[in-house]
Amino acid sequence: MQQPLVTLRGIKKHFPVGSGLFGKKSSFVKAVDGVSLDIYPGETVGLVGESGCGKSTTGRMVVGLTEPTEGEIYFEGRKLSDYKKKKEIGKNLQMIFQDPYSSLNPRMTASDIIEEPLVLHKMGTKSERRKRVDELLERVGLSSDHGNRYPIEFSGGQRQRLGIARALALQPKLIVCDEPVSALDVSIQAQILNLLKEIQKDMGLSYLFIAHGIQAVKHISDKIAVMYLGKIIEFSEKEEMFITPKHPYTKALLSAVPHPDPKQRDRERIILKGDLPSPSNPPEGCSFHTRCPVAIEQCKKVIPTLLQTSEHSFTACIQYENVGNQVEIIAEQEINENYDKLYTESNDKRKMESVLPN
Ligand SMILES: Nc1ncnc2c1ncn2[C@@H]1O[C@H](COP(=O)(O)OP(=O)(O)O)[C@@H](O)[C@H]1O
Ligand SMILES: [Mg+2]
Repeated sequence: MQQPLVTLRGIKKHFPVGSGLFGKKSSFVKAVDGVSLDIYPGETVGLVGESGCGKSTTGRMVVGLTEPTEGEIYFEGRKLSDYKKKKEIGKNLQMIFQDPYSSLNPRMTASDIIEEPLVLHKMGTKSERRKRVDELLERVGLSSDHGNRYPIEFSGGQRQRLGIARALALQPKLIVCDEPVSALDVSIQAQILNLLKEIQKDMGLSYLFIAHGIQAVKHISDKIAVMYLGKIIEFSEKEEMFITPKHPYTKALLSAVPHPDPKQRDRERIILKGDLPSPSNPPEGCSFHTRCPVAIEQCKKVIPTLLQTSEHSFTACIQYENVGNQVEIIAEQEINENYDKLYTESNDKRKMESVLPN
């Protein structure tokens, strides 16, 4: 068995909110609330979920930019917290950010931006570094002529290319890509995604690829983790997730993806009731139960854990936990039947919402 490149075990990040003055206990935003995940060499794990569910915080913890409140992160079997120097981590774990406008220093030239990590890590001589910078510029589809320009002189897509070149400078083994294309024009998004794929093929590196919607990670991911209020509620190989999603939330996310056949569109849509609860006051039991179309009484009390539901799939839903692996298929059928009752027979969205439990 191959060793995972990065392992997260029960990581949490609870941000204190409020002043805690006069002995008042301050409360916490449970941004990440017990995430476990393995990322293997050369693979891409997509991390998806609604805004505020804890994706960026998870990504920042993976690269050591944010300290977990609890839990451990391992890189090649060694705890991140055991690495004495942050630099050792920085060499192997890099991050690219959503906003190519604010993540590049406007006062530095493109070359200086890409060279900076090499300087910080005291890599090579000045001329060796410059040679490397030119290679990197070309690697990301720019030319060495671009080196003397400032970020403002580049388009959004080109700036993201610079961000990628900088992240590649130290030849990391994993890059956390935090919504790297969502600020870009749709026409540019595919180019950047293709570039990331090509680079992965050449260098064999791993990605944790963060996106808002499940569709955005469809092509790039080998596996997908779905997050809801600080927890992973389903983790599975991509094909399996798209063909047989297990968790009611994943089903809802997938149903929001427009169906190619217009006649099918209305019928398949699952409208989730209500808003995303606040991570500073998540619901008791399963945090999804307040919006879950198939929640039962027990879901209000029991916190589901991520259990294996098939060879390559894990789901945190007691509808699966209750019946165990043996009759897992029955549970799946039951959930599907419930869905059929609730949604498939009705084309009237308002009617659909009125049959959803509170
Ligand atoms: N530094 C911080 N201090 C306090 N709260 C934070 C901080 N960073 C993130 N949060 C909160 O943690 C939750 C998760 O945030 P984030 O990880 O950015 O989610 P996502 O990337 O999925 O949109 C949000 O409620 C956000 O407001
Ligand atoms: Mg984010």
